[in-house]
Amino acid sequence: MTGIEIDTTRYDSGERMPSVDSRIYSNRQIFEEELEKIWKKVWLVTVHESEIPEPLDFRTITIAREPIVIVRGTDGTVRAFLNVCPHRGNLILRQPSGSLTVAEPSGNANHMTCMFHAWQFDCFGRCVDIPRMKQGYQERLRNEDVALTELPCEVAHGGFVWLSLNPDSGPLSAFTGGAFDAMKTELETEPLDVFHYHKAIIPSNYKLWHDTNSEFYHDYMHYFNRATSMVQKGYFDRRYGAFPNGHATVGSMEVKYDAYKGAAERPLSFPGMERNGWKMVDLFPGATYNIRGSSLRLDTMTPISADLVMIEFRGLGLKKDTAEERAQRIRDHNTIWGPFGRNLHEDLLGITGQGVTMRPGTAPRRILHGRHENNLIHDEIGMRHYYAEWARRMGRSPANPMAAPIAMAAE
Ligand code: FES
Ligand SMILES: [Fe+2]
Repeated sequence: MTGIEIDTTRYDSGERMPSVDSRIYSNRQIFEEELEKIWKKVWLVTVHESEIPEPLDFRTITIAREPIVIVRGTDGTVRAFLNVCPHRGNLILRQPSGSLTVAEPSGNANHMTCMFHAWQFDCFGRCVDIPRMKQGYQERLRNEDVALTELPCEVAHGGFVWLSLNPDSGPLSAFTGGAFDAMKTELETEPLDVFHYHKAIIPSNYKLWHDTNSEFYHDYMHYFNRATSMVQKGYFDRRYGAFPNGHATVGSMEVKYDAYKGAAERPLSFPGMERNGWKMVDLFPGATYNIRGSSLRLDTMTPISADLVMIEFRGLGLKKDTAEERAQRIRDHNTIWGPFGRNLHEDLLGITGQGVTMRPGTAPRRILHGRHENNLIHDEIGMRHYYAEWARRMGRSPANPMAAPIAMAAE
């Protein structure tokens, strides 16, 4: 694993103590600009391929208010399209998930049918039927003029569906760079599948969740982590790696689960991972891969407004798990990361409190990002590295965000 050296010791405010202005979290104009300059530009990890295992299975999602359908084709390939009818802009598929093999009341099986005027599209995004086409459009319209808009889409890094609203996003590998090098064996040796899903809609800014995933100083909040990690060997040796495009990784340690009364050591692991190891990949602008020994947790976010975010949590194991192994992974996952686990809700309470003090219109305040501990676990380099990328894409200083923006700096 080789990170890059980036001067993240301070933002450009000239302060000795790196801080951001709370308006990066509370200002509605900043939020709208983030959708345009970040969320509509970069690659984003979305659903897992095991959620659409069969040809014509689909999932619908929203990114930066754009409705999207992800569908597995009859050729097995996963594709993504804007879920928007090219006729008069109606939303086509309205369910969160399903199979196109099931006919809708207004359409035929195997097609996506817009309920408004019954235009039909196939799994390749082609418009395959327009009622009374010749009578209404004569020779003026061709089916190929009204195909669904296809988005850049790749299945990668553990079988997840990555996509971008930006037709010029370039290859995914150029965006993620080396960020997954330290998790490659765990993610790529065996196919994975999803065994857990829940979501939380939190009145807070999405970046506050990513900040939380990018710093471990808040382990003081987690009694479970204090007992099983903080007081254990190796905790203060965990190191951050910073990678281009704002990504960061956190090195592993061996967690002592049995140090928490009622918890147990975890016999299962992931390929290439030490038993009870724990490593993370934090991805700009807001996703985290988190492997704790026997289960992988993926956090993805859908920012809804400056002070509202939907966070989706997936738990994954190995597809080849036996029933007993799967039950064990689910137990391990849920005891700490389930909605009633010992850890996750505390993080959510933390950012909910921040959300209260940083509602749109609240007074600007200084938020410190200034811990320096040689890039080790209580260092805040993960956040500083993230906001260096944020500054580059936004053309704004996080310490002085309301100054007029400048053009995006070269990579
Ligand atoms: S808006 Fe979709 S068919 Fe008319
Ligand atoms: Fe936490």
